[in-house]
Amino acid sequence: MNYRHGYHAGNFADLLKHTALCELLRLLTAKDKKLFVLDTHAGAGGYDLGGAQARRTGEAEAGIARLMAESKTGMPGAVARYLAAVQAYDRKFGPAGGPLHRYPGSPRLARAALRPGDRFIACERHPEEALKLKREFAGDRAIEVRQSDGYHAVKELLPPVERRALVLIDPPFEANDEFEALTRAVRHGLRRFATGCYAIWYPIKDEAPVAAFFSSLAGVKYLNMELDLGPRTPEGKLAICGLVVINPPWKFEEAMREALPWIAGRLGPGAKARVAAAPA
Ligand SMILES: C[S@@+](CC[C@H](N)C(=O)[O-])C[C@H]1O[C@@H](n2cnc3c(N)ncnc32)[C@H](O)[C@@H]1O
Repeated sequence: MNYRHGYHAGNFADLLKHTALCELLRLLTAKDKKLFVLDTHAGAGGYDLGGAQARRTGEAEAGIARLMAESKTGMPGAVARYLAAVQAYDRKFGPAGGPLHRYPGSPRLARAALRPGDRFIACERHPEEALKLKREFAGDRAIEVRQSDGYHAVKELLPPVERRALVLIDPPFEANDEFEALTRAVRHGLRRFATGCYAIWYPIKDEAPVAAFFSSLAGVKYLNMELDLGPRTPEGKLAICGLVVINPPWKFEEAMREALPWIAGRLGPGAKARVAAAPA
């Protein structure tokens, strides 16, 4: 368990995942019905962009900082809303206008979108990250932070009493068998709660486990999105990642087809976005 999201917060993977997350939350909270949100791999909740971890990789500089520097004119709505959420969080830590001070993780973005009466559980297994997450939300009764295994939570907490849920599964992919664990968790989730909306992030380093994971989704309705930084990515750095959203809400695909190519266009020459729906 060496992974620390502080090294990667605000990178291209977060741009994909968090733009989609904000849009999913917006669409799912538009209905006047309660929502349950489960963040299975929540991380620390917020990340210091001036800190040693972020400065060591420079990933936020090549990611979120590029989008923040763009003019709002012509910006896709989903990107503008995501950046507004990032800025609203950052403003608590310093003046607006200059470089970002702090980047919101998935629990912060989710918490900001939820309404009174919605329910939110965030799981983080690493003791130090879980402690940071608990501190991040100290005194906030709208979120329950658990230092626990997020895969186990999928079995334990679904189906939710609300009968409507967004489940974000964002593992670190440190373990060689992470795709297998993910596949099992998604299978359990769908068996218990077939109508839930599941957003699952994955890296593409090797095609075989990705293909095996997708073959386990045969017959399931989903939207798959990929962001590819292109061949100029330095050796050893992640260049392609994806997010698959099972049971996406109405209008989500349209928003992502507009947002992701625009984001890719800001990530350097050769960067591309792919969006594909299944069953086609
Ligand atoms: C990619 S990071 C999460 C980032 C976060 N979702 C965000 O978007 O801001 C993955 C996190 O999962 C944690 N983790 C690893 N295995 C876990 C497990 N089985 N259950 C819960 N958390 C786990 C890691 O410690 C790490 O903090």
